[in-house]
Amino acid sequence: MYRTNTCGELRTSDIGKQVTLCGWLQRSRDLGGMTFIDLRDRYGITQLAFNMETNSELCQKARRLGREFVIQATGKVIERSSKNAKIPTGDIEVEVSELNILNEAKTPPFTIEDQSDGGDDLRMRYRYLDLRRAPVRRNIEMRHRMAMLVRNYLSNLNFLEIETPMLIKSTPEGARDFVVPSRMNPGEFYALPQSPQQYKQLLMVSGFDRYFQIVRCFRDEDLRADRQPEFTQIDCEMSFVEQEDVLQTFEGLAKHLFKEIKGIDFEPFKRITWHEAMKLYGSDKPDLRFGMEFKEITDCVKGHSFQLFDNSELVVGIVAKGCAEYTRKQLDSLTDFVKRPQVGAGGLVYIKYNTDGTFKSSIDKFYDADSLKRIAQCMEAQPGDLMLIMCGPSMKTRTQLCALRLEMGQQLGLRDPHKFSPLWVIDFPLLEWDDETQRFYAMHHPFTAPKPEDEALLDDPNRWGDIRANAYDIVINGCEVGGGSIRIHDRTLQNKMFHTLGFTDEQAAAQFGFLMDAFTYGAPPHAGLAFGFDRLCSIFAGADSIRDFIAFPKNNAGRDVMSGSPAPIAQAQLDELMLDIRQPISQ
Ligand code: AMO
Repeated sequence: MYRTNTCGELRTSDIGKQVTLCGWLQRSRDLGGMTFIDLRDRYGITQLAFNMETNSELCQKARRLGREFVIQATGKVIERSSKNAKIPTGDIEVEVSELNILNEAKTPPFTIEDQSDGGDDLRMRYRYLDLRRAPVRRNIEMRHRMAMLVRNYLSNLNFLEIETPMLIKSTPEGARDFVVPSRMNPGEFYALPQSPQQYKQLLMVSGFDRYFQIVRCFRDEDLRADRQPEFTQIDCEMSFVEQEDVLQTFEGLAKHLFKEIKGIDFEPFKRITWHEAMKLYGSDKPDLRFGMEFKEITDCVKGHSFQLFDNSELVVGIVAKGCAEYTRKQLDSLTDFVKRPQVGAGGLVYIKYNTDGTFKSSIDKFYDADSLKRIAQCMEAQPGDLMLIMCGPSMKTRTQLCALRLEMGQQLGLRDPHKFSPLWVIDFPLLEWDDETQRFYAMHHPFTAPKPEDEALLDDPNRWGDIRANAYDIVINGCEVGGGSIRIHDRTLQNKMFHTLGFTDEQAAAQFGFLMDAFTYGAPPHAGLAFGFDRLCSIFAGADSIRDFIAFPKNNAGRDVMSGSPAPIAQAQLDELMLDIRQPISQ
């Protein structure tokens, strides 16, 4: 037997026992008469003690061990003379009588402790070492627990986990596909699934009724902290349900996870429409951990010869409570913030509502005290508050003010990562206009059903932008953690939708023919949703990046710096695949 116990379990109740532990040498301390080793495994750290007086040979052997050596130690559990309250095993140590080196190790390129001296790149290059660190390991453990809870919860509700293919047909909608050449079919390609959307709908046609899958998805899109080229969804679909059934089911799942992982009970999640979300927060994924709702003051500010406001479609602001004392420097830095290319605003107007009831603003030239007071009333500001105002075309201005709202929330400490504000955003627009290609795209995907009361608008191209979808997102702390919709199960309506999206019958048949055919054989009404599992994990842990919850993630350039992928392939492989890359990629 390699070990009797793990490095995380021994306590004072084990004192006197003979034990064998295995693990990695995290640290050793040579105090002359005694040598101590911190032995680490997945479960924790236990101190090993070697006594120069009673066993000098063994002690000397221990002193020769390097960091990260894999060792096996046998000995007696004894009480520590100087206890360490910081670790659960801190009251005991093992007085070692036998020591085996199971494997030697090169000195690691960074310290493998909770606080590492390794930079991001280095830790990614040696990710297998980074994963030995407790904080990273805890993330992976939490992910596992969440996956198990999801499986049990959904299985108890009669959901079946069914695997769908990874090599599928490329579809033009959505993000870019990753494609895989087919050797047996030269010149033809599979795509890796962006999601199992069509297959899960086919499973509903097959009568499976309740499906789920914790499944890898692939999207070739620009990467950010909350986006990886391969990520995991908790993908679900249900038959004979309405929107309310879907929201209840998956709110239930989210609440179950919150209860089990965080010990938090929730009231029913708030629901707001997409239009409300855009109007009040300038975002379809509002962070509701704090208020600071938008106040539209377009009518209130016009007619004061201030061209900028007079010529703007929208004038809108937020009230930062108790911030009237902001200094010139602080205000300048907020202006710089909104002028950054990522935000792209022309500038920022401020009005300080001083505690003595006076005003100081960047538009004093155009607005006297009475007018500023009226603006304050419109914005429901109180003495001591700071009003921050932006103007311009409606959508653009809202998005810019959203960035400022989040920045203010951050600066004022209102975005506590350990507070959770889940909500549903419902009634998304069905279609989204794209200026570049001059056509409408499905905001969610082409199988999303319009709200029945808006269906008639499909006949009027001028109203396409007004059609609401039976689509919903689940948002937590400003992050879209999941989304779904009621699907179109009626072939005529689906055809109409394809026409609206600019597909000819032939194109629709070529791309989605198999799904359309399936729908002629008795498709039940169905609906579904997919959670972004990596995002859910990062939100639960209060972390910014989903990378920390993926054992082997890619960097922001989509590279796995550990294995060195992507990488060129040999000419022989290219030839076999009949791929002609004229300009070989040089590293
Ligand atoms: P959607 O495209 O909204 O819906 O994706 C569902 C959820 O997946 C997560 N997500 C990502 N996470 C990490 N990296 C990415 N690149 C990434 N892209 C998306 C998000 C998102 O909310 N088939 C539909 C679902 C349905 O209608 O049932 C779909 O894929 O958290």
